[in-house]
Amino acid sequence: MRIDIITLFPKMFGGPLTESMISRAQKRDLVKIKIHQLRDWAINRRGQVDDKPYGGGAGMILRVDVVFKALTGLKFLSQKISNIQYPISNKIQNSKTKKLTKLKANEAKPYVILPTPSGTKFDQAMARKLAKKKHLVFLCPHYEGYDKRIESIVSEKISIGDYVLTGGELPVAVMVDAVVRLVPGVINKESLKEESFSRKDERPFVSTIEYPQYTRPEIFEMKIRGKKIKKTVPAVLLSGNHKEIEKWRERQ
Ligand code: ADE
Repeated sequence: MRIDIITLFPKMFGGPLTESMISRAQKRDLVKIKIHQLRDWAINRRGQVDDKPYGGGAGMILRVDVVFKALTGLKFLSQKISNIQYPISNKIQNSKTKKLTKLKANEAKPYVILPTPSGTKFDQAMARKLAKKKHLVFLCPHYEGYDKRIESIVSEKISIGDYVLTGGELPVAVMVDAVVRLVPGVINKESLKEESFSRKDERPFVSTIEYPQYTRPEIFEMKIRGKKIKKTVPAVLLSGNHKEIEKWRERQ
């Protein structure tokens, strides 16, 4: 999978994309993530990407022409990438294959996402849908807003929840994390197994964190406001009886 992120604040992706599992996924070439500075497509040398709102009002609005230039630039790149990453065998030449070839090219077409509080709510089912795409492009709007016409040149508007953040960077980091962990090979199959069986209407954490887990120490003692409190591990987990443990976990 290839992911392109267009932003005015590339440094905001520091930690989330350069640490832990997402970093490892990139090092293992399971996913390629590239961050682009939106000002590279600015309308002038001063790096202007926004303008005053028509009709008046406060703040500056992200320009549609700048975003269009950025997206077409990346789409061109994507065609080049798809030729390299998904070569179509020229040994097979019948009409059926021609159809397949077309499908593959279509598959490689970038799916462009605009994070906005007015978008469709992001959930685990949507993460699964996005994880099947070959190429995702995330556009991060910032400041006071964006030209409404930008919505007509993206594939989908997505919200990560009913609250307003200062920009699209944090929502994009959240979505990339949720999507990349579903890319085959990023985490082990066993960890994903429970999820793939979960119902679509189920809250994902119900199925991801299957049952309560415990580790050492067996007895944990603490003192809170002078009161001694003892927290123990459920006896069944220490019993060595695997059948009973399995039953207990299922109940949980
Ligand atoms: N941009 C600002 N707030 C957002 C949210 N809740 N979801 C997606 N994008 C946003």
